[in-house]
Amino acid sequence: MFVAANWKMNLDKNSIFEFSKHLNNFKFSSKVEACIFPPMTYIDYLYNLIKNLPISVGGQNCHFKSSGAFTGEVSANFLKDTGCEYVLVGHSERRILNNENNAEIKSRAQTAINSNLKVILCVGERLTDREEGKALEYIEKQINDCLPNNFKNLIIAYEPIWAIGSNQTPSLGEIENVHGYIKKFFLKNYDVKNICVIYGGSVNLNNSKDIFKTKNVDGGLIGGASLKADDFKKIYDNLK
Ligand code: 13P
Repeated sequence: MFVAANWKMNLDKNSIFEFSKHLNNFKFSSKVEACIFPPMTYIDYLYNLIKNLPISVGGQNCHFKSSGAFTGEVSANFLKDTGCEYVLVGHSERRILNNENNAEIKSRAQTAINSNLKVILCVGERLTDREEGKALEYIEKQINDCLPNNFKNLIIAYEPIWAIGSNQTPSLGEIENVHGYIKKFFLKNYDVKNICVIYGGSVNLNNSKDIFKTKNVDGGLIGGASLKADDFKKIYDNLK
């Protein structure tokens, strides 16, 4: 099972230091793999604070080129170099706010895989797709269009856009269904049997246990509820 904290553009150096002190009280389990995605500027700082704990750090995004004249961008190589094990690509906030399209996301995923990072590819439908009964079709296209050429270090995060930060989630049956569909997609098209599919979107203290117990769910990608160490610890404990 896998759990990740996506801090987005939250927590400064002092708060990260405080958070890291709490991590020392976590009862880590060998059954759970965990990763924190801090803001880019604090990756190195967090990595050095927690490098002796069984929890990794990751980047919230990477560029699709490994170096060059791309002012303000961060390469997958740099993430690897500063201690990252993972990178998120295709988060809906980047798709929407930064106009990242599927082709670009595929390049980002491929560059990251080439730099020996593990990739969490985020997919998820808009509310209108769901209402029109087209959620699965939309997600399948996103996966098809964004896949790198090697799945060994790939995790899929199913994050319905309408569930992010909204306190709304699909029903457990709907989550099971979408995750099952994604797993079948990999089995049918690539003969891959063990793709890890995690759920994200308004996971919190109250619903995490049930979501993590749901069939086809291999963990969670947590936003708002991961910003407080005590809450993240309880969510982590629900995965054990
Ligand atoms: P929330 O948990 O705040 O809904 O965010 C989910 C998310 O976007 C994680 O990547």
